[in-house]
This record gives sequence, structure tokens and C-alpha cells, in this order.
Amino acid sequence: MISVSAPGKLFVAGEYAVVEPGQPAVLVAVDRYLTVHLRESVEAGTVHSPEYGRLPLVWRRDGDGVAIDVEHHPYDYVMSVITLVERLRAERGVAPRFFDLRIDSQLDDASGRKFGLGSSAAVTVATVRALDEFYGLGLTRRQAFQLALLATVRVAPTASGGDLAASTFGGWIRYSAPDRARLRARLDDGVAVGDLLVDDEAWAGLDLRRLTPPASLRLLVGWTGSPASTERLVDQVQRRHRAGAYDQDVFLAESRDCVDALTAALDAGDDEAAAAALRSARGVIRRLGDATGLAIETDGLSTLADVAEAAGAAGKSSGAGGGDCGIVLAPDTADVGRIMQGWEAHDIRHLAISVHPDAGGV
Ligand code: MEV
Repeated sequence: MISVSAPGKLFVAGEYAVVEPGQPAVLVAVDRYLTVHLRESVEAGTVHSPEYGRLPLVWRRDGDGVAIDVEHHPYDYVMSVITLVERLRAERGVAPRFFDLRIDSQLDDASGRKFGLGSSAAVTVATVRALDEFYGLGLTRRQAFQLALLATVRVAPTASGGDLAASTFGGWIRYSAPDRARLRARLDDGVAVGDLLVDDEAWAGLDLRRLTPPASLRLLVGWTGSPASTERLVDQVQRRHRAGAYDQDVFLAESRDCVDALTAALDAGDDEAAAAALRSARGVIRRLGDATGLAIETDGLSTLADVAEAAGAAGKSSGAGGGDCGIVLAPDTADVGRIMQGWEAHDIRHLAISVHPDAGGV
């Protein structure tokens, strides 16, 4: 049996802007994992997860593709990976085999509620890496990330892939996305997956950089307890953008400035400047929420961040916002005990999460 774990992630800065090709964001991989177990099977394959239901999803081969009998399903990301890997396998002349795939996740609590730590990305990354091993495809870490992004754009065309990058490479990273619409068009045109992976022009805009924060900078994660829907919020922000609710150029420039300031602060080992950059990034996201009338920074996330600021740290929503987790960067001088007490008083749960280490490959 092959078992591959992929870490969850948190966005630190640059959310929403990062869906535009070339716009930067900072993310961090965290030590909560989703694991994919893969075992060879005799005929047809199954996908199973305790979270998504007792009945496994059955899939079969259909020519060079993969056939399943449901349209929209939480296993969409897994099926999209399987479909692309099957294409790559056929291109490389590797003989087909069936397999059963089982998913175990720590990216939600005991009752199955998600924390917003990027379970779709982690399942996509872990499935790519498990199948790479199963078929002996020899993908580099970067190619595994690229394949995960190709699988994702077939399910969620606007997704930036920042969460896939954090889950693939670990540690802290700065990320800018390539043009996913172009990549998707190439896939739909029937390009060989293996050729697309090595076509540098198609990946223009993709930029990955390792970041190393100073040891004095602590990362804290609070959970507001209210679930958020990333897809819905991203869709609504894009609608408001098309309706001219806010000036996209100003938003993108402000977001980039915050990410640049955060990158420079981390490079310089300056924990106070990193916290200041995060406070600015919070302002950018709050203005986006005000302009669109969307609760990106919910009341719970506001409290989470206000408590952090009052204790000399910086806090903000992470990812799409709307609930789930918020993050805090606490410089050496911040009073972490006060943050913990303040969160407890407001029913914000501190998640004891640390950084998943740099996995290499950037
Ligand atoms: C969602 O976790 C983060 C967004 O920037 C969307 C994305 O990057 O795909 C809002």
C-alpha cells in the first residue's frame, strides 16, 4: 500500500489578488495533514473517505479517460487528478492498473467540520504524489505541483493554486499564479499532459520563492467556529468586480505593496515590520469587504484580529475569510498570553498548529 500525506495551508497575505496571474501572495504550510492511501485492485477502482460518505465512489476506464456516474461530487478534485494521471500514464506507455484510494483527513475537527486549512488542495496534492509513486512516473516536486494545478483548474477555474504550492513545497512561500485559463484551454485542446508540464511559456507568471521568517516571529491560528464557503465568496467578489464595485487596479497595487513589505520584512528578519505588513494586509481585505458588501472579515474574525492588535501583534482573516481560521503574527514584544485569554473570552479556539517544514523543490 502507498500512503502519502500532504499538509494543510494558511494564506498570510495577498488573498483574492492572487487569482490574477502574476499577483503575489504569501502562504504557509501547517502541520495538519490529509493522507491518501492507495492499494491495487482487481477491476474498477474506488475512492473512499470517512468524511464524504460511507459508500465509495466507483470509477472505470473509458477509452483513455475515466468514467464515473456522478456529476458534481466532493471527489471532483480526486477524479480530476485520476483523469489527468491516466492521460499521462497512457502517453508514457505505462500499463493501466486499477486501484482503491482512501482519504484520511486531519484538516477538520472530530465532527467533520472543516477548519478552512485547504483540504481540497491537500487531497489534490496527495493524490498526485500517490499516483506518481503507483505508476512510477518520476514527476519532480515542481511537476507534481503543476499537475495538481492542472487538475484543479478543471474543477475550479479561478483557483490561484497558492494552496497547492504551500501543500506541495511546505514552509513559507511567496507565490504568483500562471494564467490558468490558458492552461485549461491547452488541456481542452488535447495537448499531451507531459508536454504541457515542460512548456515554460504556458507557465509564464508562475513564481515561487522560499521565505524564511525570523525565529522571533510567532504564528498563531484561531478558529472562529463558523464555516466559510471559499467558492461562494470568490465567485461573489468576482461578480462585484465585474459590476465595478471597486477599483481593481488600486486593490491589486495595494495588495502587492503589502506582500512586498511582508517579503522584505521576512528577508530582513524584522518581526515588527512583518506584523506591520500584516496589519496593512488586513486593511486591504477589509476595504475589499466594505466595497463589495461581503462579510470577508466576519465579526468573529474582527474580534480575533482586534484582540491580537491590542496585545501588540497583528491578525487578519486567512484565505477567502467569511469565517474559518484567522492568523496572527506575533513579534517578540507581543503579549501572547493576553491574546489567548482574549480569544478564550470570545469563544475563539486556539489551534495548536505549527509550520510544516520546507519540503524542498522550490
Ligand atoms: C482562498 O483560500 C484564497 C483566495 O485568494 C482564492 C484563491 O487563491 O484561489 C480568495
